[in-house]
Amino acid sequence: MARRTLNTDLRILSGNANLPLALRIAELLGVELCQASAGAKGGYGPGRFPDGEVSVQIRQTVRGKDVFVIQPLSPPVNDHLVELLILVDALRRASCREICAVIPYLGYARQDRKTTGRVPISARLVADLLETAGVSRVLTMDLHAGQIQGFFTVPLDHLRSDRLLARHIHTEHPDWLGNLTVASPDLGGVWRARRMAKRLGELTPKKKELPMVVVVTQRDERDKKIVVKEVIGKVRGRKVLLVDDILSSGSTLATATTELRSAGAKEIFAACTHGVFTPGSLELLAGSELQAVLVTDTIAHRDEVRKAPKIEIVSVAEFFADAIRRIHRHESMTDLLASTPT
Ligand code: R5P
Repeated sequence: MARRTLNTDLRILSGNANLPLALRIAELLGVELCQASAGAKGGYGPGRFPDGEVSVQIRQTVRGKDVFVIQPLSPPVNDHLVELLILVDALRRASCREICAVIPYLGYARQDRKTTGRVPISARLVADLLETAGVSRVLTMDLHAGQIQGFFTVPLDHLRSDRLLARHIHTEHPDWLGNLTVASPDLGGVWRARRMAKRLGELTPKKKELPMVVVVTQRDERDKKIVVKEVIGKVRGRKVLLVDDILSSGSTLATATTELRSAGAKEIFAACTHGVFTPGSLELLAGSELQAVLVTDTIAHRDEVRKAPKIEIVSVAEFFADAIRRIHRHESMTDLLASTPT
Protein backbone atom coordinates (compact mmCIF):
# COMPACT_ATOMS: atom_id res chain seq x y z
CA MET A 1 0.00 0.00 0.00
CA ALA A 2 1.35 3.44 -0.89
CA ARG A 3 2.46 5.47 2.12
CA ARG A 4 -0.17 8.07 2.95
CA THR A 5 1.04 11.62 2.47
CA LEU A 6 0.96 13.84 5.49
CA ASN A 7 -0.31 17.16 4.28
CA THR A 8 -3.17 16.20 1.98
CA ASP A 9 -5.08 13.76 4.22
CA LEU A 10 -4.21 15.21 7.60
CA ARG A 11 -5.86 18.03 9.49
CA ILE A 12 -4.81 19.42 12.85
CA LEU A 13 -7.30 21.43 14.87
CA SER A 14 -7.11 22.94 18.30
CA GLY A 15 -9.47 24.04 21.01
CA ASN A 16 -8.49 27.05 23.10
CA ALA A 17 -6.81 25.06 25.89
CA ASN A 18 -3.26 24.89 24.51
CA LEU A 19 -2.82 26.75 21.24
CA PRO A 20 0.98 27.12 21.57
CA LEU A 21 1.35 23.32 21.77
CA ALA A 22 -1.04 22.77 18.84
CA LEU A 23 0.79 25.34 16.68
CA ARG A 24 4.13 23.71 17.45
CA ILE A 25 2.81 20.22 16.67
CA ALA A 26 1.35 21.44 13.37
CA GLU A 27 4.65 23.11 12.51
CA LEU A 28 6.58 19.92 13.25
CA LEU A 29 4.19 18.00 10.99
CA GLY A 30 4.55 20.60 8.24
CA VAL A 31 0.84 21.42 8.12
CA GLU A 32 -1.21 24.54 8.85
CA LEU A 33 -3.42 24.49 11.91
CA CYS A 34 -7.07 24.58 10.72
CA GLN A 35 -9.18 27.51 11.80
CA ALA A 36 -12.32 26.52 13.68
CA SER A 37 -13.84 29.78 14.76
CA ALA A 38 -17.05 31.05 13.16
CA GLY A 39 -17.44 34.71 12.16
CA ALA A 40 -15.71 37.02 9.74
CA LYS A 41 -12.42 37.16 11.60
CA GLY A 42 -11.98 33.43 12.05
CA GLY A 43 -9.36 32.16 14.49
CA TYR A 44 -7.86 28.84 15.48
CA GLY A 45 -9.84 27.83 18.57
CA PRO A 46 -13.66 27.91 18.80
CA GLY A 47 -15.36 31.24 19.46
CA ARG A 48 -18.26 32.18 21.73
CA PHE A 49 -21.77 33.41 21.09
CA PRO A 50 -22.74 36.52 23.07
CA ASP A 51 -24.36 34.33 25.75
CA GLY A 52 -21.16 32.30 26.23
CA GLU A 53 -22.13 29.21 24.25
CA VAL A 54 -19.35 27.68 22.14
CA SER A 55 -19.47 28.55 18.44
CA VAL A 56 -17.55 26.50 15.88
CA GLN A 57 -17.12 26.49 12.13
CA ILE A 58 -14.36 24.42 10.58
CA ARG A 59 -12.86 26.72 7.94
CA GLN A 60 -11.33 24.07 5.68
CA THR A 61 -12.71 20.92 4.13
CA VAL A 62 -12.26 17.83 6.31
CA ARG A 63 -14.29 15.39 4.20
CA GLY A 64 -12.51 12.04 4.16
CA LYS A 65 -9.56 13.37 6.21
CA ASP A 66 -7.89 12.17 9.39
CA VAL A 67 -8.43 14.93 11.91
CA PHE A 68 -6.49 15.34 15.14
CA VAL A 69 -8.05 17.73 17.64
CA ILE A 70 -5.64 18.95 20.31
CA GLN A 71 -7.26 19.91 23.59
CA PRO A 72 -6.00 19.13 27.11
CA LEU A 73 -8.75 19.12 29.74
CA SER A 74 -7.04 21.73 31.89
CA PRO A 75 -8.79 24.50 33.86
CA PRO A 76 -11.36 25.80 33.10
CA VAL A 77 -11.92 22.09 32.54
CA ASN A 78 -15.66 22.22 31.82
CA ASP A 79 -15.21 24.90 29.14
CA HIS A 80 -12.41 22.94 27.54
CA LEU A 81 -14.39 19.70 27.62
CA VAL A 82 -17.44 21.28 26.00
CA GLU A 83 -15.27 22.95 23.33
CA LEU A 84 -13.77 19.57 22.52
CA LEU A 85 -17.18 17.85 22.34
CA ILE A 86 -18.60 20.54 20.06
CA LEU A 87 -15.52 20.52 17.80
CA VAL A 88 -15.84 16.75 17.46
CA ASP A 89 -19.54 17.03 16.69
CA ALA A 90 -18.82 19.57 13.93
CA LEU A 91 -16.13 17.29 12.48
CA ARG A 92 -18.33 14.20 12.51
CA ARG A 93 -21.10 16.05 10.72
CA ALA A 94 -18.52 17.30 8.18
CA SER A 95 -17.78 13.68 7.15
CA CYS A 96 -14.15 13.34 8.15
CA ARG A 97 -12.63 9.88 8.09
CA GLU A 98 -11.24 9.60 11.60
CA ILE A 99 -11.40 11.93 14.56
CA CYS A 100 -8.58 11.51 17.03
CA ALA A 101 -8.97 13.48 20.25
CA VAL A 102 -5.45 14.43 21.30
CA ILE A 103 -5.87 15.06 25.01
CA PRO A 104 -2.37 15.61 26.42
CA TYR A 105 -3.87 15.99 29.92
CA LEU A 106 -7.08 14.10 30.63
CA GLY A 107 -8.89 16.02 33.35
CA TYR A 108 -11.45 14.32 35.62
CA ALA A 109 -9.12 11.31 35.66
CA ARG A 110 -8.77 11.38 39.45
CA GLN A 111 -12.47 10.51 39.72
CA ASP A 112 -11.94 7.03 38.33
CA ARG A 113 -13.74 4.94 40.96
CA LYS A 114 -16.19 5.23 43.82
CA THR A 115 -14.14 5.94 46.92
CA THR A 116 -17.22 6.42 49.09
CA GLY A 117 -21.01 6.26 48.72
CA ARG A 118 -23.06 8.42 46.33
CA VAL A 119 -20.17 9.78 44.24
CA PRO A 120 -19.80 9.69 40.44
CA ILE A 121 -17.19 8.02 38.27
CA SER A 122 -16.61 11.17 36.26
CA ALA A 123 -13.69 9.78 34.23
CA ARG A 124 -16.02 7.16 32.75
CA LEU A 125 -18.66 9.78 31.99
CA VAL A 126 -16.07 11.92 30.15
CA ALA A 127 -15.04 8.89 28.07
CA ASP A 128 -18.69 8.20 27.19
CA LEU A 129 -19.31 11.84 26.24
CA LEU A 130 -16.29 11.86 23.92
CA GLU A 131 -17.40 8.68 22.19
CA THR A 132 -20.98 9.89 21.88
CA ALA A 133 -19.71 13.09 20.25
CA GLY A 134 -17.91 10.98 17.63
CA VAL A 135 -14.30 10.50 18.69
CA SER A 136 -12.86 7.46 16.87
CA ARG A 137 -9.58 7.30 18.78
CA VAL A 138 -7.74 9.02 21.62
CA LEU A 139 -4.12 9.99 22.11
CA THR A 140 -3.14 11.00 25.62
CA MET A 141 -0.25 11.12 28.07
CA ASP A 142 0.31 9.89 31.62
CA LEU A 143 -3.24 9.04 32.64
CA HIS A 144 -3.72 9.31 36.37
CA ALA A 145 -4.53 5.59 36.36
CA GLY A 146 -3.72 3.28 33.45
CA GLN A 147 -7.07 1.49 33.84
CA ILE A 148 -8.87 4.57 32.49
CA GLN A 149 -7.89 3.24 29.04
CA GLY A 150 -10.61 0.64 29.58
CA PHE A 151 -13.28 3.34 29.95
CA PHE A 152 -12.96 3.92 26.20
CA THR A 153 -14.15 1.41 23.60
CA VAL A 154 -12.27 3.21 20.78
CA PRO A 155 -8.48 2.71 20.45
CA LEU A 156 -6.44 4.78 22.89
CA ASP A 157 -2.69 5.37 22.69
CA HIS A 158 -1.16 6.20 26.04
CA LEU A 159 2.16 8.06 25.86
CA ARG A 160 4.45 8.27 28.90
CA SER A 161 6.63 11.24 29.70
CA ASP A 162 9.25 9.35 31.74
CA ARG A 163 11.65 8.86 28.83
CA LEU A 164 11.40 12.54 27.87
CA LEU A 165 11.93 13.77 31.42
CA ALA A 166 14.74 11.30 32.10
CA ARG A 167 16.58 12.40 28.94
CA HIS A 168 16.11 16.03 29.92
CA ILE A 169 17.63 15.37 33.33
CA HIS A 170 20.48 13.44 31.74
CA THR A 171 21.37 16.24 29.31
CA GLU A 172 20.47 19.37 31.28
CA HIS A 173 21.08 18.29 34.87
CA PRO A 174 23.67 15.49 34.86
CA ASP A 175 24.75 16.72 38.31
CA TRP A 176 21.41 15.50 39.75
CA LEU A 177 22.19 11.92 38.80
CA GLY A 178 25.04 11.10 41.20
CA ASN A 179 23.76 9.74 44.49
CA LEU A 180 20.11 10.13 43.37
CA THR A 181 17.09 8.35 44.83
CA VAL A 182 13.68 8.52 43.14
CA ALA A 183 10.67 9.13 45.39
CA SER A 184 6.96 8.64 44.96
CA PRO A 185 4.92 11.15 46.99
CA ASP A 186 2.17 8.59 47.54
CA LEU A 187 1.51 4.86 47.39
CA GLY A 188 -0.56 5.15 44.20
CA GLY A 189 2.39 6.60 42.29
CA VAL A 190 4.95 3.89 43.11
CA TRP A 191 4.83 2.32 39.62
CA ARG A 192 5.32 5.77 38.07
CA ALA A 193 8.38 6.52 40.21
CA ARG A 194 9.77 3.06 39.55
CA ARG A 195 9.49 3.61 35.83
CA MET A 196 11.50 6.82 36.20
CA ALA A 197 14.06 5.03 38.43
CA LYS A 198 14.53 2.49 35.63
CA ARG A 199 14.70 5.10 32.88
CA LEU A 200 17.26 7.20 34.74
CA GLY A 201 19.22 4.07 35.64
CA GLU A 202 19.47 3.14 31.94
CA LEU A 203 21.16 6.51 31.35
CA THR A 204 23.84 6.02 34.01
CA PRO A 205 27.17 4.23 33.32
CA LYS A 206 26.17 1.22 35.47
CA LYS A 207 22.77 0.90 33.70
CA LYS A 208 21.27 -0.06 37.03
CA GLU A 209 17.84 0.99 38.29
CA LEU A 210 18.13 3.88 40.77
CA PRO A 211 17.06 3.31 44.37
CA MET A 212 13.52 4.27 45.32
CA VAL A 213 11.63 5.48 48.36
CA VAL A 214 7.96 6.13 49.04
CA VAL A 215 6.54 9.00 51.05
CA VAL A 216 3.28 7.62 52.32
CA THR A 217 0.83 10.52 52.23
CA GLN A 218 -2.90 10.69 52.60
CA ARG A 219 -5.44 13.44 52.00
CA ASP A 220 -7.43 14.23 55.13
CA GLU A 221 -11.10 13.52 54.37
CA ARG A 222 -12.34 16.68 56.10
CA ASP A 223 -9.93 19.53 55.32
CA LYS A 224 -8.34 17.82 52.25
CA LYS A 225 -4.87 18.61 53.62
CA ILE A 226 -2.03 16.21 52.80
CA VAL A 227 -0.83 14.26 55.84
CA VAL A 228 2.44 12.29 55.80
CA LYS A 229 2.32 8.87 57.45
CA GLU A 230 5.91 7.67 56.91
CA VAL A 231 8.86 7.57 54.54
CA ILE A 232 9.64 4.02 53.38
CA GLY A 233 13.34 3.77 52.46
CA LYS A 234 16.52 5.72 53.18
CA VAL A 235 17.29 9.22 51.93
CA ARG A 236 19.87 10.49 54.43
CA GLY A 237 22.65 12.35 52.62
CA ARG A 238 21.12 11.64 49.20
CA LYS A 239 19.63 13.75 46.42
CA VAL A 240 15.97 12.94 45.83
CA LEU A 241 13.79 13.29 42.73
CA LEU A 242 10.06 13.33 43.51
CA VAL A 243 8.00 12.00 40.60
CA ASP A 244 4.27 12.69 40.19
CA ASP A 245 1.72 12.87 37.36
CA ILE A 246 -0.12 16.03 38.42
CA LEU A 247 1.04 19.19 40.16
CA SER A 248 -2.12 21.03 41.14
CA SER A 249 -2.00 22.97 44.44
CA GLY A 250 1.62 21.89 45.00
CA SER A 251 0.80 20.65 48.49
CA THR A 252 1.67 17.01 47.78
CA LEU A 253 5.16 18.00 46.63
CA ALA A 254 5.68 20.63 49.34
CA THR A 255 4.60 18.25 52.12
CA ALA A 256 6.69 15.37 50.78
CA THR A 257 9.69 17.72 50.51
CA THR A 258 9.42 18.78 54.16
CA GLU A 259 9.27 15.13 55.20
CA LEU A 260 12.21 14.10 53.01
CA ARG A 261 14.30 16.96 54.41
CA SER A 262 13.56 15.86 57.97
CA ALA A 263 14.57 12.35 56.96
CA GLY A 264 17.98 13.75 55.92
CA ALA A 265 17.68 14.28 52.12
CA LYS A 266 20.37 16.66 50.88
CA GLU A 267 18.77 18.20 47.80
CA ILE A 268 15.25 17.64 46.45
CA PHE A 269 13.94 18.07 42.89
CA ALA A 270 10.64 17.14 41.29
CA ALA A 271 9.42 15.98 37.88
CA CYS A 272 5.67 16.12 37.14
CA THR A 273 3.94 15.65 33.82
CA HIS A 274 0.91 17.89 34.12
CA GLY A 275 1.43 21.31 35.72
CA VAL A 276 -2.05 22.55 36.61
CA PHE A 277 -0.69 25.21 39.01
CA THR A 278 -3.85 26.31 40.82
CA PRO A 279 -3.71 29.72 42.55
CA GLY A 280 -1.27 29.73 45.46
CA SER A 281 0.77 26.79 44.14
CA LEU A 282 3.71 28.88 42.92
CA GLU A 283 4.01 30.60 46.30
CA LEU A 284 3.87 27.24 48.07
CA LEU A 285 6.62 25.79 45.87
CA ALA A 286 8.72 28.95 46.16
CA GLY A 287 8.57 28.70 49.95
CA SER A 288 9.42 24.98 49.97
CA GLU A 289 12.89 23.45 49.99
CA LEU A 290 12.39 22.03 46.51
CA GLN A 291 15.26 23.17 44.34
CA ALA A 292 13.72 22.70 40.92
CA VAL A 293 10.48 21.40 39.42
CA LEU A 294 10.27 19.98 35.89
CA VAL A 295 6.85 20.02 34.23
CA THR A 296 5.81 19.46 30.64
CA ASP A 297 3.66 21.66 28.41
CA THR A 298 0.72 19.22 28.18
CA ILE A 299 -1.07 22.19 29.78
CA ALA A 300 -0.49 25.75 28.53
CA HIS A 301 1.39 27.73 31.16
CA ARG A 302 0.67 31.32 32.03
CA ASP A 303 3.62 33.77 32.08
CA GLU A 304 3.77 33.69 35.86
CA VAL A 305 4.52 29.94 35.71
CA ARG A 306 7.00 30.30 32.84
CA LYS A 307 8.96 32.93 34.76
CA ALA A 308 8.87 31.22 38.16
CA PRO A 309 12.48 30.63 39.20
CA LYS A 310 12.22 26.96 40.19
CA ILE A 311 10.02 25.84 37.29
CA GLU A 312 11.46 24.33 34.12
CA ILE A 313 9.22 23.37 31.21
CA VAL A 314 9.99 20.39 28.97
CA SER A 315 8.04 20.27 25.70
CA VAL A 316 6.07 17.22 24.62
CA ALA A 317 5.42 18.68 21.14
CA GLU A 318 7.90 16.47 19.24
CA PHE A 319 6.67 13.38 21.02
CA PHE A 320 3.03 14.10 20.12
CA ALA A 321 3.95 15.08 16.55
CA ASP A 322 5.76 11.77 16.14
CA ALA A 323 2.77 9.86 17.55
CA ILE A 324 0.31 11.68 15.26
CA ARG A 325 2.53 11.02 12.23
CA ARG A 326 2.62 7.30 13.04
CA ILE A 327 -1.12 7.02 13.72
CA HIS A 328 -1.88 8.82 10.48
CA ARG A 329 0.50 6.66 8.46
CA HIS A 330 -0.70 3.46 10.15
CA GLU A 331 2.82 2.83 11.44
CA SER A 332 3.72 0.95 14.57
CA MET A 333 3.68 2.86 17.84
CA THR A 334 5.44 0.12 19.80
CA ASP A 335 8.82 1.77 20.32
CA LEU A 336 7.16 5.11 21.10
CA LEU A 337 4.87 3.57 23.68
CA ALA A 338 7.52 1.14 24.90
CA SER A 339 8.06 1.57 28.56
CA THR A 340 10.11 -0.32 31.02
CA PRO A 341 7.83 -2.96 32.54
CA THR A 342 7.04 -2.43 36.18
C1 R5P B 1 -2.76 12.36 43.32
O1 R5P B 1 -3.20 11.23 43.37
C2 R5P B 1 -1.94 12.87 42.19
O2 R5P B 1 -1.09 11.86 41.70
C3 R5P B 1 -1.12 14.08 42.60
O3 R5P B 1 -0.24 13.71 43.66
C4 R5P B 1 -2.02 15.20 43.10
O4 R5P B 1 -3.04 15.41 42.18
C5 R5P B 1 -1.23 16.48 43.30
O5 R5P B 1 -2.12 17.46 43.72
P1 R5P B 1 -1.64 18.69 44.60
O6 R5P B 1 -0.54 19.37 43.83
O7 R5P B 1 -2.88 19.53 44.72
O8 R5P B 1 -1.18 18.20 45.91
